[in-house]
Amino acid sequence: MNKTISVLVDRLNGLMPKTAIVLGSGLGALGDELRDAVRIPYEQLEGFPHSGVSGHAAEVVAGYWGDTPILMLSGRAHYYEKADASVMRAPLEALHGLGVKRLLLTNAAGSLREDMPPGSVMQITDHINFSGSNPLFGEPSDRRFVGLTNAYDATMRQQMSSAAERAGVALHQGVYMWFSGPSFETPAEIRMARVLGADAVGMSTVPEVILARFLGLEVAAASVVTNLAAGMSGTEISHSETKEMAPLGGKRLAAVLREMLAG
Ligand code: HPA
Repeated sequence: MNKTISVLVDRLNGLMPKTAIVLGSGLGALGDELRDAVRIPYEQLEGFPHSGVSGHAAEVVAGYWGDTPILMLSGRAHYYEKADASVMRAPLEALHGLGVKRLLLTNAAGSLREDMPPGSVMQITDHINFSGSNPLFGEPSDRRFVGLTNAYDATMRQQMSSAAERAGVALHQGVYMWFSGPSFETPAEIRMARVLGADAVGMSTVPEVILARFLGLEVAAASVVTNLAAGMSGTEISHSETKEMAPLGGKRLAAVLREMLAG
């Protein structure tokens, strides 16, 4: 067992979560809902990133949601921080080593659809990797040829949709396009993204989906819309707007996840 996994096993003290959630912008407070929560700063876990993006914490929170053991990764690192798309590989490998089977990814995104304004929640049905990068660059084994035809697990998607219905939250569905960032897109890039089939754009999640499928985890993902994408609203997009608007959809997505997972 590698050192990070044994630290986690030790600190979790018998808790065996099968489901993990990566908390994006606006969802950090979900960690506070876990009962008997253990918090482990990423600093204490070898290979975990020290995220430098404001609005993101950097800790593992594990505990019970209702009666369900859940592990949350509060805070992620992004490709644009170090030009390394595999920054989340060590954390996801540690979860896999710990026995986690299902991964739920969340993020903040810009919407390409007028009918999906800020505050909306979108289940990701598929993605477009527009970054030119891949977290499996350099992976030597043939396992690197990961199939992504069914990257977003049909059963988990169905469970999320039913949970949204029960929670009374409108859950949009759409394709998420991964731009490298950290600059936001131009209006021309957004027009291109629309032609290519995107419903939302963002700077995260896709490399984690690829890594999770590489590891054999089942994956589902959802975006919280913080803004209409570049050129759609007449105003400039900013990180402070992302942080300000994320809690609105974040509350809705939290209600869906609670309904989906808290047994
Ligand atoms: N573009 C990229 N990433 C984002 C956006 C956006 O408009 N909003 C929140 N994250």
